[in-house]
Amino acid sequence: MDVNRRKFLTYVGTGMTALTVASTGLGALAPKVAAADKGRDSLFGYENRASKIDFTPIAPTTADELVLPEGYTYDVIAAYGDVINQKGDTFGFNCDFTMYLPIKGSSRGLLLVNHEYTNPLFVEGPVVASYTPKQIEALLYNQGLSIIEVYQEPNTKEWKMDPTSKYARRISGLATFQLTGPSKGTPSVNGATQVQGTFANCSGGATLWDTVLSCEENWETTVNRAGLDTTHYGWVVEVDPFDKNDQYFKPRKHTALGRFHHENCAMGLSKDRRVVVYSGDDKAGACVYKYISKGKFNEAKGKENSKLLEEGTLYAADMEAGVWIALTIDAVREAAKGNQELLNKYQTQADVLVHTHDAAILLGATPTDRPEDVEISPIDNSIFIAHTNNTSKGNFHGHITRFFETDADLGSLTFTYEIFAAGGTQSGFSAPDNLDFDRHGNLWTVTDISTSSLNKGTYEPFKNNGMFVIPTTGKDKGQAFQFASGPVESELTGPWFTPNQKTLFLAVQHPGERSPSLNDLTSKWPHRKGDTMPRPSVVAIKGF
Ligand code: FEO
Ligand code: CA
Ligand code: CA
Repeated sequence: MDVNRRKFLTYVGTGMTALTVASTGLGALAPKVAAADKGRDSLFGYENRASKIDFTPIAPTTADELVLPEGYTYDVIAAYGDVINQKGDTFGFNCDFTMYLPIKGSSRGLLLVNHEYTNPLFVEGPVVASYTPKQIEALLYNQGLSIIEVYQEPNTKEWKMDPTSKYARRISGLATFQLTGPSKGTPSVNGATQVQGTFANCSGGATLWDTVLSCEENWETTVNRAGLDTTHYGWVVEVDPFDKNDQYFKPRKHTALGRFHHENCAMGLSKDRRVVVYSGDDKAGACVYKYISKGKFNEAKGKENSKLLEEGTLYAADMEAGVWIALTIDAVREAAKGNQELLNKYQTQADVLVHTHDAAILLGATPTDRPEDVEISPIDNSIFIAHTNNTSKGNFHGHITRFFETDADLGSLTFTYEIFAAGGTQSGFSAPDNLDFDRHGNLWTVTDISTSSLNKGTYEPFKNNGMFVIPTTGKDKGQAFQFASGPVESELTGPWFTPNQKTLFLAVQHPGERSPSLNDLTSKWPHRKGDTMPRPSVVAIKGF
């Protein structure tokens, strides 16, 4: 997209949204918002491209509660330990990504939820010298995925989980996964074609063929505690939530998408209909990636399109040159010339995919400040990247970067970029993490200030982690309006709207995670009757 077009998009919507400004303790702009006027037809098929914020933003708070704007309420759908099916499986710990999949011919849906890590205080129990087999089982079982069935009570409108569901199940660190792609069965993964389980599941994404991608992020701790092979983790996994016995669609890990600290996946199509998958690598000094399939998407082939994730090219972004660098073994070996250690490490494409980050840096990709969620704008195909922060470089509050692919083609190998919004007291948010768009093209972001830093020093004004809405067009483009504040020591994750955008699913991760003991808790959220500890939970937010 050229600059003029971009400016035009920025101006569309100006004058359509009436905002008045109220002040907060932050000195940030926190407008009280009147309803937007009718928007105009979009050039890209969107009904209304004017920013439309129709809630009164909340102020930052330290309350041990999920605080929402007036008129919005939430239902706790499932909390850690809840029984999810008749077999007695239970909901895992520290929920993250959520994705709602309507059940065809029904008003119900499946909610897929990631579980990112455990906390020995609440899950495994005191660890003496090393993990016992029973503790390893708890560690692995309480990570991975939960698939639960959810519905809205017709009368009360309360969202509930149905524990008699025939679909509900767990796919955990104890499951079996097939490897696909160039690294499968190679010495780079110690010959494995099949590996044990998935864990460290942070965010994820939808495919174009009704399956789900889930991303393995910080896998090292669990690998060490459980004594597993480190090369079997750090991949993008794909499952079919509706195939309840994994009969037709085996859970798989796609090595072609590389092995790094995958935050999430955002899938789209190039103009010539190849599948493109963007992914961030949540580590300070890490790169932004995209994968482009060799073959083209064919809707008629349904889940067979999964094969497109087995053969293609993985690229990393060189932001200085505005170029996507192909991570090929030939390029890596050329760059490694004269360095025998590197030449030994990188002998095949499988090696490049297992050691992706080092290959990307070697080829000149740009190290960035913790690229977490990456999402494709439904309005103009621009790419939004949450760069959470990088304290060692003095970037304490992070920023949201926006890539413009040449010709707005996801298959393009060149791009330009802008800093779309920056964290700090001037914007009111710090440490952006998961991103999502609503139908008006507003960007929703949750924040991830680490628990040890919350409410201290430079992070004090932001209080608890929260959720913000940032218009991407109109005169409020780039301004953040706070929609939610999480309970004590929590992080809000995995926002996902229902197709009618009347409900927002959200995960509340690690409330009270720094509690000194079970008798001395810093949070008891969600404050369910008779409960004695905080529980990571998924909620449904209503009021839209
Ligand atoms: Fe699991 Fe990058 O957050
Ligand atoms: Ca995250
Ligand atoms: Ca995070």
